[in-house]
Amino acid sequence: MTSVLLTGISSLVTNDPRRGTGIAELRDAAVVIEGRAFAWVGSRRDAPPADDAVDLGGRAVVPGFVDSHAHLVFAGDRAEEFAARMTGTPYSAGGIRTTVAATRQATDEQLAANVARLVAEMRRQGTTTVEIKSGYGLTVTDEARALAIAHDVTDETTFLGAHVVAPEYADDPAGYVDLVTGPMLDAAAPHARWVDVFVERGAFDADQARAILSAGKAKGLGLRVHANQLGDGPGVQLACELGAAAADHCTHLTGADVDALASSGVVAGLLPAVEFSTRSPYPDARRLLDAGVTVALASDCNPGSCYSSSMPLCIALAVREMRMTPAEAVWSATAGGAASLRRDDIGRIAPGARADLAVLDAPSYLHLAYRPGVPLVSQTFVAGRPA
Ligand code: NIG
Ligand code: FE
Repeated sequence: MTSVLLTGISSLVTNDPRRGTGIAELRDAAVVIEGRAFAWVGSRRDAPPADDAVDLGGRAVVPGFVDSHAHLVFAGDRAEEFAARMTGTPYSAGGIRTTVAATRQATDEQLAANVARLVAEMRRQGTTTVEIKSGYGLTVTDEARALAIAHDVTDETTFLGAHVVAPEYADDPAGYVDLVTGPMLDAAAPHARWVDVFVERGAFDADQARAILSAGKAKGLGLRVHANQLGDGPGVQLACELGAAAADHCTHLTGADVDALASSGVVAGLLPAVEFSTRSPYPDARRLLDAGVTVALASDCNPGSCYSSSMPLCIALAVREMRMTPAEAVWSATAGGAASLRRDDIGRIAPGARADLAVLDAPSYLHLAYRPGVPLVSQTFVAGRPA
């Protein structure tokens, strides 16, 4: 196994709990990568020898972003819907069906090419792990193929047959829940790690969601929930009741919801590029952090509510609009995403962790929020290799 010493790192975000709380930044640092993992992390002057050495010339290095919520298996776009929204038409869950129609008509090759394009776009912006959901097929075969396509690019695949009720079942939502918990789950489970439900007016209610999540759990899938996006609702409480890994969106929370998240340890996934793209009020990250809730930041990249794959944009919005400090936002976009996916091998730069990192054309991580919209990521490494 060859080793590479990266040196000349002006600021290194380690997120290593053994070094302290939060981002545990090191100045004037170096790291050694051996094979797929970090072998050594520390001060430049203590760096051990390695087979190769690369001087990063005073740049900052952060763990690769862990995007714990994305919908990348789809065809077409909804640019017209976005334009209408910007002149006053409100966002609603119903737009999902437009993408379902386009996705069903696409070939496997077209869907796989679109996923590959978006994953490449994410890599260029420093994302090294992405969770990908199904949810634009809504038939047994279309959901299974979406997950098989996603599984070719990530282990973090999520069955979201319960995105909205399929159009064929518009008059029989109970029949659709039976399909999702029966044959659709059977076909999806071999390709999925997680199951998710969009709990929202216009999508699924608490009883339907409980049935779907429980069926997924019985099949061995971990639980994730789209919760409290468009208004108060039962999603967060359900996620806490069932021991979900993540309750994502969390835009509209009661005090009881915040308490439940804090005491259950369910990770709150905040997706500020959605609020940006739907011109909606942002979730209050400060309230969650002050209550002791673990917060993840994720893109929610999808053709409807947010067609952005940019984790740096999420960081900038979280700092500017959601009262997070730059350090908290960077932690939530890396270690927070890892916590949301219940992973401890990613989201940190520490010996033994997978060697995923982003090199910034900037002297510190602060610039991710300080220079919004600027493509600062100059290099991304995934499992020790330039990606
Ligand atoms: O997370 N909320 C549900 N799903 C997506 C939106 C999907 C769409 O509008 O196509 C979301 O925002
Ligand atoms: Fe989503």
